[in-house]
Amino acid sequence: MIPLKVNRFMYKAERTQQVNVEQLHPTFAARVTGIDLREPLDAASVADIIAAMDRYAVCVFPHPEPLTNEQHIAFSRHLGPMQPTPILKVTGEVKLHERVPYPEIINVSNLDENGNIYPETHRKTMFRRADQQWHADVTFNENRATYSALSARIVPPGADTQYADMRAAYAALPPSMKEKIAGLVAEHSVWYSKQRVGFPEPTEEELRSAPPAQHPLVHVRAGQTSLYVASHASHIIGMPVDEGRALLAELTAFATQPQFVHKHAWTVGDVVIWDNLAVMHRAPDYADLHVPRELRRTTMRERAFTEAANLGMN
Ligand code: OGA
Ligand code: MN
Repeated sequence: MIPLKVNRFMYKAERTQQVNVEQLHPTFAARVTGIDLREPLDAASVADIIAAMDRYAVCVFPHPEPLTNEQHIAFSRHLGPMQPTPILKVTGEVKLHERVPYPEIINVSNLDENGNIYPETHRKTMFRRADQQWHADVTFNENRATYSALSARIVPPGADTQYADMRAAYAALPPSMKEKIAGLVAEHSVWYSKQRVGFPEPTEEELRSAPPAQHPLVHVRAGQTSLYVASHASHIIGMPVDEGRALLAELTAFATQPQFVHKHAWTVGDVVIWDNLAVMHRAPDYADLHVPRELRRTTMRERAFTEAANLGMN
């Protein structure tokens, strides 16, 4: 502990710019200035980012221009084990990530590799629209996502991303509900959330690339008790499916009431990092067949990827 503190002081002294944190919502979300994610990060900056994430769970880092893929990957490496490859095999979708030539980066956009907008009938269109449901990223994997870092390139006005504070939501639950959900475990499947918006039954190959995973409904993240629900949660273990589904819907509705929600209006160059273990988020319903929108995402996970854990993932 002590040497770390000394180091931190040294780094602080070398800093030319003051880190400034401005809270954006009564319970969470902050705008952080004075840390440029395009530059190599020193240990003090990394510690400041982690501390801000623990406290605010969603942090906005403005930049005058979009990060390059290389810059995006470089800062992400400081934030935990980065997901090294795409994890979903979508049948018939060979070019899912070709627009971005880095396997670590997910192309969160409606543009194909030639910059053309995907048509309505494309599986990719339906796939992205599923993000309009309240969710956390990768809850359907046993190795859960911690941070997601989304970098804005093309952002039409009004196509905002919403975040909901799962710690504030848990704290506000009636005691009877807290008692009811203590110890409950939900099963999450990415194919369940896709099917809810009309995606066809997954193929064998798709299912194999992302089998379901089970996680507690309530957990402690950075010292705070948080709800862990998402559109991927299909049922509760040990409960009739309908009953579990109704409970998940009730919890989601409760947790996404306006007082728990912060909306981020994007500016090109913004990087927003959120903690999937403390917040849910959802993508906007915008004119995705007509207006280009492009963001890029890296995803950090609880544990490093071993070769075995990567088997079955494309
Ligand atoms: C994501 C996501 C929201 C958006 O990248 O994980 O859900 O607004 N994006 O595009
Ligand atoms: Mn998401």
